[in-house]
Amino acid sequence: MKTTDVKAYSNGKENGVRLFVCKSYDALSAKAAAIVSGEINKKANFVLGLATGTSPIGLYTELARLNDEGKVDFSRVTTYNLDEYYPIDAENDQSYRYFMNKYLFNKVNINMDDTHLLNGRAPDPEAECRAYDEAIVNAGNIDLQVLGIGCNGHIGFNEPGDKFIMGTHLVELTENTIEANSRLFNSADEVPRHALSMGIGAIMNAKSIVLVANGKNKAKAVKDALEGEITPYCQASILRLHKNVVFVIDEDAASELTEYKPL
Ligand code: GLP
Repeated sequence: MKTTDVKAYSNGKENGVRLFVCKSYDALSAKAAAIVSGEINKKANFVLGLATGTSPIGLYTELARLNDEGKVDFSRVTTYNLDEYYPIDAENDQSYRYFMNKYLFNKVNINMDDTHLLNGRAPDPEAECRAYDEAIVNAGNIDLQVLGIGCNGHIGFNEPGDKFIMGTHLVELTENTIEANSRLFNSADEVPRHALSMGIGAIMNAKSIVLVANGKNKAKAVKDALEGEITPYCQASILRLHKNVVFVIDEDAASELTEYKPL
């Protein structure tokens, strides 16, 4: 990665979200992987929060490469993923468990028992959600949470609405999200109508957060998150109340920002 491929921006506010705008998806993935692996290397028994979606695939590929080269060690990393469809079987190739195994867990030296996702077949979703929150607290909370962002500003499956929900919960997906995610299924009919999602509480309790976003279709969500009102109608906007957030995005995703200037 050339240093000129990544530029740091600031909106001049103290404690503001730190922003890196990258020339390409590869530069974005390399920058995000450098941040994540740097943090993992600083602390034993690291608790890593993970996201699915197409945005972090490059980050995971790069982390696997760094692991292969001995530059980051996952043997003492515990992971908690943000969300899972409901209902869905773990073996289904559209499940987020399948995704994580494919893009990261099968490629690094992580102990599979230390990788946690919500159970898409939990008989009692409410109990599953409570147990998940308890497990995260018992692990000492998340050290670093990786996030993507939905076109409607969702993080995990915390959909736009009139409130921020703190705990892990069962979500009814919006038509907008079902439509957006249908590109990965044979048809929109096959997209599960519900999901289990970590709430805003566990995300905001993470010690640091790295959000990745690329493409023009994310520009409005990024603009609303960083420069709009802090409102549950753009769930990602709450990240501005966190003290240690980095957005690593490409030029297209940054194209609607007006308040950030190069450092
Ligand atoms: C999905 C996931 C989110 C993800 C978002 C964006 O629905 N639940 O965690 O960040 O949508 O996905 P993508 O990166 O594919 O655009």
